[in-house]
Amino acid sequence: ISLDGQFQTVDYDMKIVDEVSRIVVNDMSQYGICVVDNFLGEQSGLAVLKEVMEIYDTGVFKDGELVSNSINRDHKTIRSDQITWLDGTEAVCHNIRMLIAKVDAVVTKANCMVNNGHMGNYTIKSRSKAMVACYPGNGARYVKHVDNPNNDGRCITAIYYLNRKWDVKQHGGLLRIFPSGLNHVADIEPLFDRILFFWSDRRNPHEVQPAYKTRYAITLWYFDDEERNKALESRLHRL
Ligand code: OGA
Ligand code: OGA
Ligand code: MN
Repeated sequence: ISLDGQFQTVDYDMKIVDEVSRIVVNDMSQYGICVVDNFLGEQSGLAVLKEVMEIYDTGVFKDGELVSNSINRDHKTIRSDQITWLDGTEAVCHNIRMLIAKVDAVVTKANCMVNNGHMGNYTIKSRSKAMVACYPGNGARYVKHVDNPNNDGRCITAIYYLNRKWDVKQHGGLLRIFPSGLNHVADIEPLFDRILFFWSDRRNPHEVQPAYKTRYAITLWYFDDEERNKALESRLHRL
């Protein structure tokens, strides 16, 4: 995972941020998963999509990497998306920056609303850079995995989807979450202007089913401060 994007302050509608934060707090504590539609609105969503497509066209997207050691695994059968990391300083991504700032505001607010600054038992002060992912539509997928199986610090995964007129029957690309200890799955369609939050740890194994149309998403991982610091320390010890 790439490290440490910066939180930024920008103007956004605080009322909407408050509303979404409330939904996030409620659904994350009840289900560990939260879906919110129409997060930015049509116009801003389209502006983000345009920037993502422009960045894609510059050719900076690379095959998605696996974080864990995977010497003997055929990489592309596990994960065949293409990705690039943005830290928000890139020239062409004003609208992506606005999106990120709004998600930061929601997560920060949600974290403040419960337990004096804790959500779950987390204290969230930082996050990863933004991962922009493209499943090129040739059956690209990501097999069942856990984002943070080994306490690397990531506590919340936030994914913003950019796919208009997406028909799962025709285009596939469903995100299926298998909440641990439950005998049901949560199927999430990667619909335009939808944002999804879920706990990044072993509570939420998930897969991206083969996509047959270009599928774009932007992912942010929020760090629990204590777990992140421990992870960074132990990594330093090993080096
Ligand atoms: C892996 C893996 C998840 C991630 O390394 O095998 O699935 O978030 N990583 O990169
Ligand atoms: C990931 C992932 C899900 C999606 O990149 O780790 O699980 O719906 N993505 O794009
Ligand atoms: Mn994942």
